[in-house]
Amino acid sequence: MFKLYFITGNREKFKEAKDRFKYLDIKLIQSKIEYPEIQASDITEIALYGINYCSERLKSPFFLEDSGLFIEELNCFPGPYSRYVQDTIGNEGILKILSNIKKRSAYFKSVVALYKDGPHLFEGISRGAISNKLRGQNGFGYDPIFIPEESSKTFGEMSTKEKNKFSHRSIALENMAKYLENGVE
Ligand code: IMP
Repeated sequence: MFKLYFITGNREKFKEAKDRFKYLDIKLIQSKIEYPEIQASDITEIALYGINYCSERLKSPFFLEDSGLFIEELNCFPGPYSRYVQDTIGNEGILKILSNIKKRSAYFKSVVALYKDGPHLFEGISRGAISNKLRGQNGFGYDPIFIPEESSKTFGEMSTKEKNKFSHRSIALENMAKYLENGVE
């Protein structure tokens, strides 16, 4: 069985990846190596910097993942600043900013950066909308305020398995899995 490291300190992200890879012939192992998350205007740049840094420290194939929430009416804010905004104003702050705004469409974008004989990038986007209030206790980060298209629940109201049917990360992981199985990027 092929061993693949997922470098993340985020237990929920690892849980999602484990569920996504359940039926594949890949043994997923969590690695908590720390790497600098640079501040850049593009999440791909952040992920690329991360894998180049880690490739000097880990010799087995690995990947890491970077994501962001993009609110269309706010010119795609917070995007690459999603972590900072989550850690400062949080979900309550986002709901306050949007309190008089009707158009609440938003999307999550995930970039999975794999290092296996060099760097490979895979993307996933989940489109949806910001809810009017916090809903659900599951998941992490913006999950309680994001409702994916084709659902009436927030990610926070879903199980890991259910979130994986819609999520940006699940789509990016699926693209990586296809590449690992068939060599198609
Ligand atoms: P990072 O990819 O871990 O750098 O995430 C950036 C920010 O977006 C953090 O505050 C995360 O909590 C949040 N975030 C990333 N992915 C998700 C998700 O799937 N659901 C909710 N919040 C997320």
